[in-house]
Amino acid sequence: MKNIVVLVSGSGTNLQRIINCVDTGEIPDANISKVIADRECFGLERAKKHGIPTQVIPRGKTFSEELKEILPENTDLIILAGFLSILNKEFCESFPGKIINIHPALLPKFGGKGMWGHHVHEAVLAAAEKESGATVHYVTSSIDEGEIILQKSFEISEGESLESLQKKNYETEFEIFPKAINKVLNFPL
Ligand code: GRF
Repeated sequence: MKNIVVLVSGSGTNLQRIINCVDTGEIPDANISKVIADRECFGLERAKKHGIPTQVIPRGKTFSEELKEILPENTDLIILAGFLSILNKEFCESFPGKIINIHPALLPKFGGKGMWGHHVHEAVLAAAEKESGATVHYVTSSIDEGEIILQKSFEISEGESLESLQKKNYETEFEIFPKAINKVLNFPL
């Protein structure tokens, strides 16, 4: 049984997808041992509803150190699912190949500081891109720059709205996230 810890900052839509996949066996032989947030958020409610232990470490300079202290020792994978704090270099280097993130665009495009959630989709629309997509990648201390694990694109229609782009993105994320998680759990770096 592999032990997963999920980090969230927001609505936890992707966390819910992971919870469901663990329940149905789409992510087999895995257990979500803890959900940790850097602020109060709906993701925590989703975890509690499923009986998953939760903890809040307020965002700030010492977040990475505090996280390291409370991380269950048997953790096989740390998943960032809509998580907004930056983990420091020391933390990332302590868990090589064991931290992954999902990003709502086709990295290396539309990544980096300030590029999260709706900001990404707004930038994609402003740039009149013909396609966008989702990316799951390893986490390093350089924002959105770790090695790509899985990526999938979709077309942007003419007159695409922010809402419809978000919907397409979630559908794509829901598809690739469990696949990427299984890949990392079964074939670690
Ligand atoms: C997702 O689109 C994900 O790519 C990004 O955060 C967004 C919101 O996540 N990292 P969620 O709704 O809290 O799952």
